[in-house]
Amino acid sequence: MTMLTPPLKWAGGKRWLIPHLTPIWQSYSHMRLVEPFCGGLGVALSLNPKRALLNDINPHLINLYRWMQRGVDAVDLSPEDNNHATFYAKRDQFNMAIAENRANTPESAVLFYYLNRTCYNGLCRFNRKGLFNVPFGAYKHIPYLTKHGFDQYKPLFERWEFACGDFASLNIGDDDFLYIDPPYDVPFTSYAKEDFSWDDQRRLVAWLADYANPMVVSNQATARIIDLYQHAGFEITLLSAPRRISNNGDRTPAQEMLAYKNVCITSADRHHPHLS
Ligand SMILES: C[S@@+](CC[C@H](N)C(=O)[O-])C[C@H]1O[C@@H](n2cnc3c(N)ncnc32)[C@H](O)[C@@H]1O
Repeated sequence: MTMLTPPLKWAGGKRWLIPHLTPIWQSYSHMRLVEPFCGGLGVALSLNPKRALLNDINPHLINLYRWMQRGVDAVDLSPEDNNHATFYAKRDQFNMAIAENRANTPESAVLFYYLNRTCYNGLCRFNRKGLFNVPFGAYKHIPYLTKHGFDQYKPLFERWEFACGDFASLNIGDDDFLYIDPPYDVPFTSYAKEDFSWDDQRRLVAWLADYANPMVVSNQATARIIDLYQHAGFEITLLSAPRRISNNGDRTPAQEMLAYKNVCITSADRHHPHLS
């Protein structure tokens, strides 16, 4: 089976971690993969589990995956749709569906896919009224999925379960392997509204403490995140994340943390953190 690429552009995609995750997953691939923060499916599509429970709090994302699982007939995209006027018309259509409480249809799923691929940087931002407000991305060429393109995912998605909600609402069973990729810990920011606060980071670690399942967590390797996971009994590895442009334009590579619990790690290049 050829490996499918993620259908969306999604912030925080972890396909680059696959060489580190695959050797661990190989020992547990008979288990169900559970991702409480599945995002763009960068990890699930690469690990290709037979069974998976994939959850995210974003309802539009999960609506799209569920329609891809059922089969989407509403695909009507062509390269000509990549223009300013069509983008804003489709954004209005999507926002009208949100305002009228009908954003769970196949039409809205395809609109969300179009907006994600066509908007600036694949961002997913909503205003105070809950309406999508990311501007046009002005990309030269966008290879939109056709009907056939959507259908390729169907056999795989039929084997997986999609859930939408806060991570803590998931029911974890004994046969579950957890890969946990929450939004990055971003200390020292002056953002008025944090999507995933420090309290949420701590709530997540407290929730994980209830389970004896094999689990791997990734996050930005801030001192307080490393401290939090070390105190919770996780084994820590540090990695250099690919360069990414942060909000202040800083291009220095970020350090990524992988935290493990109840797993056997055979990797030779394990780096232990030295914290001052
Ligand atoms: C770093 S991204 C995951 C990226 C994913 N691993 C990939 O490779 O594409 C984090 C995700 O967590 C989701 N999220 C934020 N808060 C959440 C919560 N309380 N419960 C579940 N998901 C949440 C966001 O919508 C986002 O998709």
